[in-house]
Amino acid sequence: MSIPEFLWGVSTSSYQVEGALENDWTEWERQERLNVRGERCGRASGHRSLWRDDFGLLPTIGANAYRFSIERSAVEPEPGVFSDEALLRERERVDELARLGVEPVVTLHHFTHPPWFRAQGGWENPASVAGFRRYVSAVAAALGPRVRTWITLNEPVVLLLGGYVAGVMPPGHKSFRRASRAFEHMLHAHVEAADVIAVQAPGSRVGIAHNMLEFAPDRVGSFLDRRLARYGERLYNLTLLDAIATGDVDWRFPGKGRARFRVPGLPAANHFVGVNYYSRVHIRFRARPGAVGDFVYRDPESRGLTDMGWEIHPHGFGRVLQQAEAAGLPIIVTENGIATRDDRQRCAFLRDHVQVLARRRAAGARIDGYFHWSLIDNFEWLEGFRPRFGLFEVDYATLRRRRNPSADLFTRLGAHLRSGAGGEPSVELPG
Ligand code: FCB
Repeated sequence: MSIPEFLWGVSTSSYQVEGALENDWTEWERQERLNVRGERCGRASGHRSLWRDDFGLLPTIGANAYRFSIERSAVEPEPGVFSDEALLRERERVDELARLGVEPVVTLHHFTHPPWFRAQGGWENPASVAGFRRYVSAVAAALGPRVRTWITLNEPVVLLLGGYVAGVMPPGHKSFRRASRAFEHMLHAHVEAADVIAVQAPGSRVGIAHNMLEFAPDRVGSFLDRRLARYGERLYNLTLLDAIATGDVDWRFPGKGRARFRVPGLPAANHFVGVNYYSRVHIRFRARPGAVGDFVYRDPESRGLTDMGWEIHPHGFGRVLQQAEAAGLPIIVTENGIATRDDRQRCAFLRDHVQVLARRRAAGARIDGYFHWSLIDNFEWLEGFRPRFGLFEVDYATLRRRRNPSADLFTRLGAHLRSGAGGEPSVELPG
């Protein structure tokens, strides 16, 4: 069977729906470093036991693809020691998707790390590169030709800024220099991963899921805000895209430093660009030791901020897609979604963003897929269980799933896009 021309699906990640095995995020929880004191991921959405039932939801929303992540601490509990049981389980999952006619999209790294990886120095250790190759080789050997779309790294820039510069995610460092070292190793690890995937799963495509934001000056009249917004956009959105296009990295963080390095083989190791888009930020100049600005979320269009406090800004989706298009590769929208308890708001978000996507496609952009975040409500990293991103609501006491009206809208939008009708989907919002 050939890969569907347009992937229409939903995304999850292991830790967020299956719950925590021992990894660097469970350590982080125990150190009470989440924004919600006392919160624990635990069994998360119960997907570790309910995965078959959850997969059964996919055909009911017209999904022809599903993006999920592999938890390295399960697959490689000790360095270089692989769990046959964990690998077999992943294979069963992929087989089940095939049975349902759903294309698997596998993320190999989605923020979490085994405790031993952290103890060995994490991504700052040059040995992390060969280690990632070894891990990916084991996974690709187990899943082989069944998986044809691979995402090596989810949001490396978010991990680097959150984990190595701001220190708010594991490993909790506050050093641009350390972030740059980790960045270099992660990109080399990507190249190594693409290389083994080409051997173990020939003909499949490989990419990175890149979180992108629209950047705006907080005070339009302020030269410094405008300038800083451009710097922010370069640091956050464009540096990685340029690296993918050219192999050259020039990463500049105003007030913190600049790193330049080259990753030969990076352009050849990317077959698509994965775009995760959620919001727009406003940048404000504010000089203080070690930093020159802040970012804030505003609501100038009065759509209401999401339960993450993020602005709803569909127009920015078009802008970041155009930036990603400039890398010259096909795009897969690997995440887009909203945290809200008001499903009417989710419907509006979904319709408006899919409309932007349809417009970019009509304008000639090669966009090969859209994945909504998320299938079911799940554990949102630092914010815990409060934000609700699911097309299906989860009752965390009973683990019961309840279909939201947005799941119906998702089904209709998908049918429209995949019919090849083109143009903008004119789907009425459910009441
Ligand atoms: C993205 C993450 C994903 C999820 C969404 C809301 O940055 O990749 O795991 O938490 O945000």
